[in-house]
Amino acid sequence: MMNGERLVAIFAAVLAVVILMCGAADGENRYVFVNWEVSYAVRAPLGVAKRVITINGRFPGPLLNLTTNDVAHVNVVNTLDEPFLLTWNGLQMRRNSWNDGVTGTNCPIPPGSNWTYVFQAKDEVGSFFYRPSLGLHAAAGGHGPIRVNNRPTVPAPFPHPDGGDLDVLIGDWYNMDAPRMRAEYLDVGRDLPSPDGVLVHGLGPYEADVTLQPGRTHRLRVHNVGARTSLRFRVQGHALLLVEAEGAYTQQRRYAALDVHAGQSVSVLVTADQRPGPYYLVVSSLFVQPELVGVANVLYAGGRRPKPGNAPLGRGGGDDDGYARSMDEARSVRMNLTCGAARPNPQGSFRYGAIRVDRTILLRNGEAQVAGRRRCTVNGVSFADAATPLKLADRLGVQGVFKVVSGRPERRKRASLGTAVIDARYRYFVQIVFENSLPSLQTWHLDGYSFFVAGMGWGKWTPNARSTYNLVDAIYRSTVQVYPASWTAVFVSLDNEGIWNLRSQDLGRRYLGQETYIKVSQGTMEVPDPRDELPMPSNALLCGKAKSLKLGQA
Ligand SMILES: *[C@@H]1O[C@H](CO)[C@@H](O)[C@H](O)[C@H]1NC(C)=O
Ligand SMILES: *[C@@H]1O[C@H](CO)[C@@H](O)[C@H](O)[C@H]1NC(C)=O
Ligand SMILES: *[C@@H]1O[C@H](CO)[C@@H](O)[C@H](O)[C@H]1NC(C)=O
Repeated sequence: MMNGERLVAIFAAVLAVVILMCGAADGENRYVFVNWEVSYAVRAPLGVAKRVITINGRFPGPLLNLTTNDVAHVNVVNTLDEPFLLTWNGLQMRRNSWNDGVTGTNCPIPPGSNWTYVFQAKDEVGSFFYRPSLGLHAAAGGHGPIRVNNRPTVPAPFPHPDGGDLDVLIGDWYNMDAPRMRAEYLDVGRDLPSPDGVLVHGLGPYEADVTLQPGRTHRLRVHNVGARTSLRFRVQGHALLLVEAEGAYTQQRRYAALDVHAGQSVSVLVTADQRPGPYYLVVSSLFVQPELVGVANVLYAGGRRPKPGNAPLGRGGGDDDGYARSMDEARSVRMNLTCGAARPNPQGSFRYGAIRVDRTILLRNGEAQVAGRRRCTVNGVSFADAATPLKLADRLGVQGVFKVVSGRPERRKRASLGTAVIDARYRYFVQIVFENSLPSLQTWHLDGYSFFVAGMGWGKWTPNARSTYNLVDAIYRSTVQVYPASWTAVFVSLDNEGIWNLRSQDLGRRYLGQETYIKVSQGTMEVPDPRDELPMPSNALLCGKAKSLKLGQA
């Protein structure tokens, strides 16, 4: 049997060749410049006015339309009266955690100023989205779709959708604003109540239109941008052919309806091959009582507009709301091994099942009283944001900003508040096990990476669980769900240096401390080779203990 390091080395070598091959086209890499003004506006999608966050006056914000290897320059102009950051949910930001846009990597953009993100969609393809990352901003909008289109030389493994691509943002919605969420719930140790409804493209029931071209096939890129609720969507009278999940091409399978958990993205093909409607896109909440429903009108171009209010709502009788059904469906979402991703030699041929695991990180989420308040914890530590971004502290040598933890549950007397970072070696092949003993579904997202979702199971994880894993064609994605009283195991090849956020996609739980960072480095004090990690950007903002420092001054 081949040993893990050799396989990883071969993988790296293949990748290098691929990068060289792509190198020929480097002169053609496009630069995409956008200028985004972030402001407040008042909207009432469910009939109750709320202050929302718009981008260039739009809610949701504009599409960021990239092609593999494009270099994006996104100038974010913050006209809010508070600091702001955007993060790029699902993009791998290769070698570039400097532009990831979370508190651990970037100083917030102060009110009344601007900052330009620069990043490359290196070797990527697929559907992603951007969203605000500070506090509870994301519950007020500020999000929008990202497409990374395939280059013509690397075709997608399905016929080009002749009806075009449509971005469909779905999400739960709270009528109350962030200060109330904090003051009446999170900061006084109460769970957020059930959301007030489900929006489709920032709009309430029957307000959004999805227009299909008769006889043609469309790619719907569906993103759950909500605060926390798992959603299930269908297009009445039409099958959904699943083709992509967060940048990996899936085995193409037909579904009548599909789960999309908070923070996840999928692409489905929908062919307008029925009699001209009207039909509805129905989005139902999962695991919430009572069920919440979002509805958009599905119109055939030139066809009749439906009369509002006559859609058969909800999931319908045969479609159950159980965790077991949902887990079975999750296991059916698999990678198409003959064509996994944007790379000419896709990750799909990366035989992850044969690689020796260098390290297992076990993350147990919990809840505890910390400093007199109910907080969310990871291995007993509730994450506390530092005033100095961890990435800056690490590079500029500012001591005492974060604490390195083991990445395993530790016996400790009581839960504590801390800025916990897991130190990991570049190029290690790591298993991460998420254990959830709570009665609610959890979601976990890792920035800078996709991981193979190898296994899920009920109860406690043990090393023997490996015998139940999918070691062949597990899906490769960046946000995964962990069912109540269960575990999810993922494999990740740590081939992207930087300090990367690992967070709950439940905004309330993240606000209460369910997040951490993984620092992927070569373990030396030297400044990384720019081939492994890009240098600190010349426009990097400085704040906290790094405010008056410059490179080399620490
Ligand atoms: C996105 O970019 C591609 C490639 O440049 C282009 O063909 C397409 O029309 C663009 N789509 C939108 C909606 O701007
Ligand atoms: C702010 O925007 C201006 C253009 O409006 C640009 O020249 C400048 O580089 C931006 N500042 C930063 C820090 O990105
Ligand atoms: C997998 O991708 C290939 C193209 O690379 C395609 O021909 C095939 O239909 C796909 N298989 C499935 C099950 O989706």
